Amino acid sequence: MSKLKLKKSVQKIIILAIVIIILGGIGLYSYNKIKKQKEYEQTYEYKLKTVGYNDEDVEFIQKKFKDQEIEYILGQEKNDTYIAIAKEEFFIYDKFYNYLDYFQNNPTLTLRDVIEKVNTKTNTPYYENPLKTDITKKELMLVNKYYYLDETYTPENLVTIPLTYAYGELGSQQVTEDTYNAFLNLWNAAKSAGYSLIINSSYRTYESQTNVYNDYKKQGTEYADKIAARPGFSEHQTGYAFDMFAIGTNSKNFHESEAYQWLLDNAYKYGFILRYPVDKVNITGYEFESWHYRYVGIDAATYIHEHNITFDEYYAYFIETQS
Ligand code: DAL
Ligand code: ZN
Repeated sequence: MSKLKLKKSVQKIIILAIVIIILGGIGLYSYNKIKKQKEYEQTYEYKLKTVGYNDEDVEFIQKKFKDQEIEYILGQEKNDTYIAIAKEEFFIYDKFYNYLDYFQNNPTLTLRDVIEKVNTKTNTPYYENPLKTDITKKELMLVNKYYYLDETYTPENLVTIPLTYAYGELGSQQVTEDTYNAFLNLWNAAKSAGYSLIINSSYRTYESQTNVYNDYKKQGTEYADKIAARPGFSEHQTGYAFDMFAIGTNSKNFHESEAYQWLLDNAYKYGFILRYPVDKVNITGYEFESWHYRYVGIDAATYIHEHNITFDEYYAYFIETQS
């Protein structure tokens, strides 16, 4: 072989090798690209986008929901309700499907109402499946038409309210010690503002609540249930609640008094909330009671006041979710 031929052969081999390297590179590149694409197609991001969610939605869904719920969302047509519900202020993750069910059956409600109903269980009938309340929560225990106290429950630390602050015979009015101490602060502040508060009903035993309820029941169960709690279901049995007026007012006119307004604006600073407000009848299940106050502590009372919610909603969101 001549030198020239040899040179040409070497050149050919080099060119061939270069071509093979280039083709191999392209092949490898394409292979990797396809592999990456296939991997991407397995991600929630890709799947959610395929269903129709935009970048912002996808980011929110992935941040807010766990796998099970993302799989559920992927199994449905695009529906902005999932995101809107999860963005609601009092959204509780574990109640996601309950919200969806309730909204499906009540599509005219706002999502806020759906959350409120489901959280407080008021989407279910009163007294049907009552739960024993968790008394270890103390001043944050919930007693309403869904949570009850045993017949034998008596608060541990009851103290007698002196007659300076209460009607009746000495010893007939009692609340828990922490409620009483907080009440004294409230009473003094009210006094400085010009109002003399006076308690006319406070701790009630299961038996005394039975009498209160049965009295109203003479006018029918439906009526009684709007006004009084059934035995075991009254906050009065907790020792954290009382009915209060300002001297010179009564149950008929207290809501028109300056003292009532002052309490609405200030009671929370001492740990008290108006428990059955005029605009929350659908949640509490009780007619407006301008006089019934509940001790829940300053933090809870402040939150409830600032967010204009009921204790039932507060409990669902902050307390029930802990246990
Ligand atoms: N009046 C309130 C609801 C009670 O009986 O406890
Ligand atoms: Zn009361």
